Amino acid sequence: VQVHFVAHDGTRTSVEAEAGTSIMAAAVANGIDGIVGECGGAAMCATCHVYLDPADAARVPDRAEIEEEMLDSAAAEVTGFSRLSCQITLEPGLDGLVVHLPQSQH
Ligand code: FES
Repeated sequence: VQVHFVAHDGTRTSVEAEAGTSIMAAAVANGIDGIVGECGGAAMCATCHVYLDPADAARVPDRAEIEEEMLDSAAAEVTGFSRLSCQITLEPGLDGLVVHLPQSQH
């Protein structure tokens, strides 16, 4: 499954990840700056905050309640496209997903 990460400065990095991995894990495994994933994917830290590309938002399952609550602690501005990337599992239907990274996670 391919995911494209767009950094705050516009740099785009495309990574290939196995189906079943979270976006956070795919980013960390590929050294993507801007996703920290401090809590290891437990929806407890909000340092994996990303923004879905508006064009892709519809094909990603909705936020869970725990994700909603944790986003309140995100360092960067939270928008309607904000997600915790550890809570999104990559599957074939998400191939080619574009996610935007906040300027900072702290
Ligand atoms: Fe901590 Fe996602 S990695 S909330």
